[in-house]
Amino acid sequence: MRKKATVVGAGNVGATVAMRLAEKELADVVLLDIIEGVPAGKALDLTEAAPIEKHDAKLTGITGSYSDAKNSDIVIITAGIPRKPGMSRDDLLSTNMGIMSSVTKEIAAVAPDAILIIVSNPLDAMCHVAYETSGFPKNRVIGMAGVLDSARFRAFIAMELNVSVENTHAFVLGGHGDTMVPLPRYSTVAGIPITELMPPEIIEALVDRTRNGGAEIVGLLKTGSAYYAPASAAVEMAEAILKDKKKILPCAACLDGEYGIHDLFIGVPVKLGENGIEEIIEIRLTDDEKVALDHSADAVRQLVEDMKRLT
Ligand code: APR
Repeated sequence: MRKKATVVGAGNVGATVAMRLAEKELADVVLLDIIEGVPAGKALDLTEAAPIEKHDAKLTGITGSYSDAKNSDIVIITAGIPRKPGMSRDDLLSTNMGIMSSVTKEIAAVAPDAILIIVSNPLDAMCHVAYETSGFPKNRVIGMAGVLDSARFRAFIAMELNVSVENTHAFVLGGHGDTMVPLPRYSTVAGIPITELMPPEIIEALVDRTRNGGAEIVGLLKTGSAYYAPASAAVEMAEAILKDKKKILPCAACLDGEYGIHDLFIGVPVKLGENGIEEIIEIRLTDDEKVALDHSADAVRQLVEDMKRLT
């Protein structure tokens, strides 16, 4: 039977997610938004591209009603406002927490067995809202951040060394923000740690660019934030789940004592399969890395506290 994916938010990220899901024939796609006409228009446009792109995925665009999202296998939530120049992801907090809470309430009612992939920012905080509002178990609420951050790091490594991006692997832990923790010693080119291939100051520069990767794009686009790479990252996670690939990817997961962190969504390596997060993988960290991860966890915890004050 065909799988069903609902994408909430038919903006830049959501429409690109819908396009990639359909073109990879991972699922039939329901695209939902509050704006009249836009989801239907984008779904129809993508449907008209299907004969050329050679896929038979069915795309539906809906405004307002959640009935078409009924029994979705997977729901990717991109609804919210994106960043403008000068804004941090955290500036989006109060607006996006209201949107996230209303969206997850609707989704939980019509698709109680779905796996949620959260994309809206500030990411880790939005995962908390989705988790609490949906009442879903921890394995079915997953945040998209690490796949994007590590893809950025991989792209910069490939550019620096003039090698294929396919040869690169990178690991990024922590919150999706300025405190993210890229791990050079677990980042490799054809299996060789990048610490063997580049001097520390170059690695530091690439790490810095990765940390500011989102802001770099916001600064160039001026009217919004990145969407091609975020959509690719969300679809890689969706593919791992829909195909039960047991793929290990860095994602925001609700920790329950792993890495010494409790009841907090933060980026860690997880195994993704048909049950969502099937395992949280604990890697050994150096003292410096653990300090950086704890610092990142503190920043996320602060946002969660701020949200409590706003409600
Ligand atoms: N229900 C459904 N859709 C909504 C709702 C809602 N309650 N509120 C807003 N939206 C829709 C908007 O109408 C818009 O079409 O979400 C869409 C967001 O699209 P864009 O403004 O293009 O933003 P985008 O670049 O896609 O980013 C979306 O993902 O990466 C993050 O930081 C980013 O939080 C932002 C989100």
